Amino acid sequence: MYLRGVSFTYAGGALPALRGVDLVVRRGEMVVVMGASRAGKSTLVKVLNRTIPSFQPGSLQGEIWLLGQRCEQETVADFAGRIGLVAQDFEAQLFSTSVECEVAFALEQFGVSPPEMRQRVHAALRSVGLEGFEERDPATLSGGEKQRLAIAAMLALEPELLVLDEPTTDLDPLGKEEVLAVLAGLRREGRTLVVVEHETIAAEMADRVVFLAEGRVLADMPAQAALRSPEWFRCCAVRPPDLAVLAHGLGWAEPVRSVEQAAARVRERLMPVQKDDRAAGQQQGEASGHDVLLVAEKLSLRYEAHAPPALANVSLTIRTGEFLALLGHNGSGKTTLAKCLNGLLRPSDGEVRWKGVPILSIPLAERAVAVGYVFQNPDHQIFADRVWDEVAFGPRNLGLSEQAVAERVRQALGAVGLLERCDDDPFWLTKGERQRLAVASLLALEPQVLILDEPTTGLDYNEQRQTMELICRLHRQGMTVIMITHTAWLVAEYAERVVLLHRGELLFDGPTHELFARDDLMNAARFRVPDIVRLGQRCGVRVRSVEELVRMVGRRSEDR
Ligand SMILES: Nc1ncnc2c1ncn2[C@@H]1O[C@H](COP(=O)(O)OP(=O)(O)OP(=O)(O)O)[C@@H](O)[C@H]1O
Ligand SMILES: [Mg+2]
Repeated sequence: MYLRGVSFTYAGGALPALRGVDLVVRRGEMVVVMGASRAGKSTLVKVLNRTIPSFQPGSLQGEIWLLGQRCEQETVADFAGRIGLVAQDFEAQLFSTSVECEVAFALEQFGVSPPEMRQRVHAALRSVGLEGFEERDPATLSGGEKQRLAIAAMLALEPELLVLDEPTTDLDPLGKEEVLAVLAGLRREGRTLVVVEHETIAAEMADRVVFLAEGRVLADMPAQAALRSPEWFRCCAVRPPDLAVLAHGLGWAEPVRSVEQAAARVRERLMPVQKDDRAAGQQQGEASGHDVLLVAEKLSLRYEAHAPPALANVSLTIRTGEFLALLGHNGSGKTTLAKCLNGLLRPSDGEVRWKGVPILSIPLAERAVAVGYVFQNPDHQIFADRVWDEVAFGPRNLGLSEQAVAERVRQALGAVGLLERCDDDPFWLTKGERQRLAVASLLALEPQVLILDEPTTGLDYNEQRQTMELICRLHRQGMTVIMITHTAWLVAEYAERVVLLHRGELLFDGPTHELFARDDLMNAARFRVPDIVRLGQRCGVRVRSVEELVRMVGRRSEDR
């Protein structure tokens, strides 16, 4: 695959999305593309599978060679089966009535024999952990299960070139590693891969990393070199690896390869330390003993009579002012529990009470200002054709005056940085902006409890930080926050309390640091404790971020 001087401007777009991109990917290479939102990553992906120019009006320039062939008039269809795509909006890709048909569909088009088809479908589903889901309707899968299915459908096709646009955003941490390992395995078999990713673990498996910024290739370097240079990641809004940032922060010239190695070096500099000083670490607030807001009592829920329960006997108490994270593997029941907590779903057994009153008996408008829920996929929530109206819908329904509505909308859009876009159609916004719009429409209702279902998926690191700052600001102003996430550093840095679901059962409910010390639970939950937290554990200090440890080591060194 070879691009020379490739530029593209969307029809109606003021600025080019790609500007003179040069890129060579050799057969059998795995190249990871990283960059901030709007850097041009998805446009590049569309060029690589011929969606541009086949379906996307605009002006394309430059030389494009795909699979050894110079492209002039070729369309997507000319490379069908040879170039596979997992799109960023993977839900839009799914259309069949069963998981099995979804994966088999393309194989049928290419006349693959039934026995081979069965074998390929089975192997693809197994490699993404969807064995046993064959008969399920894709529309009823959990977010992460849908993303796994989109990947399986492409794997079964066995294309020569695989192009994946952020394929692991909704996967649990172990799921991310497993899918990336499958991709690395395909590379070893000689297939060629271009993977857009925000996570540095993808770089660990790649040959090269290409950093994009404002439509240009900023740098193209061997993956190992990229992994040692946090500044490249930072300038492309990717969270750099903990150990690289630590090495940088402490001025280590030699790279560190493992948590153990880093711990040995940090321990030297932490000595001597008072025993009680070590145990104290950063204060991590325990569940605050305020008023009880929400009580879930022995919730069970089965979507289908013969299916295993999505929730099994889950009890939970939420008090004012808490900030808690809801964790669990894909399909563990997080979204289901969240929807029960605000009355969107009725449990088969058990009850949710808001300040002692059954939530389902509370009128809808009142419920909306008690517990707000931001959907996992913002597109499930957004329906208006103007940003302003999207946010105004809720307050209008509360029967507020137009003036009060306008005030709320202005505040909510201002808080998420979208006030200037108030006249736009929501579907012109990027995924990150739509995510923030979904948050804004809940903020405008001023609920006492805000449940956010994976609010940072698909956002770049800077946007993730901005979103978290916004959520923290609301929390400081008294909002109670429940955040569903698969992102370990978010949990470490922000959550005081964690609730862990596993196959619909509640496995843990307590302080974050206690859960992080439980390897058995972390493994069961398919979760990964951040490197910096593990390093702290090895050194006997409780830390939540690299910056905290750097400060601690710096301070200790000065003390001596
Ligand atoms: N409408 C439905 N019909 C049948 N089964 C469903 C339906 N919705 C969810 N499920 C199943 O219930 C289980 C829990 O799903 P849920 O969406 O709560 O998981 P989750 O923890 O939010 O997962 P993810 O991390 O992937 O978002 C999953 O096995 C899912 O396939
Ligand atoms: Mg979910």
